[in-house]
Amino acid sequence: MKLSDIEFRAMDSWWRRWGQEHFELPLLQRMGLDVRNKDVLEIGCGNGHGAYLLNKRAPRSYVGIDLMQEQIEKVCGRFPQYQFLAQDATDLSQFGEGSKDVVIIFGVLHHIPEWRKVIDEIRRVLRPGGSFFVEEPRGTDLKLFDFFFRWGHPESDFGILRMEQHMKSCGFRICNKQWTPLMTMYHVQKSFIK
Ligand SMILES: C[S@@+](CC[C@H](N)C(=O)[O-])C[C@H]1O[C@@H](n2cnc3c(N)ncnc32)[C@H](O)[C@@H]1O
Repeated sequence: MKLSDIEFRAMDSWWRRWGQEHFELPLLQRMGLDVRNKDVLEIGCGNGHGAYLLNKRAPRSYVGIDLMQEQIEKVCGRFPQYQFLAQDATDLSQFGEGSKDVVIIFGVLHHIPEWRKVIDEIRRVLRPGGSFFVEEPRGTDLKLFDFFFRWGHPESDFGILRMEQHMKSCGFRICNKQWTPLMTMYHVQKSFIK
């Protein structure tokens, strides 16, 4: 679902970029994120700050997708070597099966009522042994954001434990999980065997 105006502005703020650079990315790296020479897909890439941070770590290729054309317009042209597409993450059919080494999400699934479809698609596009890194807020944190900041998240049955359950049921192995004050972060891996 598209962001409300107020969340759109918040996602484009200095404090969002600061948190992603100095807190979230370092923690994901300690959890095993390594994109050097890897084919990377970022879901819900927003204004491209994730691409900026990952670019410093030299991926072989990077594609960022986001539902909002307004987000893609902000980032297009900043990294001519990368691809940015305005599209819905519930359909990743333009990416071949087993075509990515790493898929990364910074806080997006809680915006997508059909979030299970996205996880299924991520599993399909990952190579055997490929890694999926995801950070998402807990239900109570979402309620706090909506209460204090009126960000207006969509109605959905998304929840951290449901997400974990779904990842396990479609064959992901949980490699690492970290609870932080506002987010829960996972590193999960697609098995080598079909
Ligand atoms: C909370 S923002 C996070 C943006 C960025 N990842 C960050 O951490 O700053 C969620 C992003 O997911 C995108 N989004 C929402 N629903 C989507 C969908 N179905 N497919 C792809 N992107 C989606 C929104 O447009 C928005 O840019």
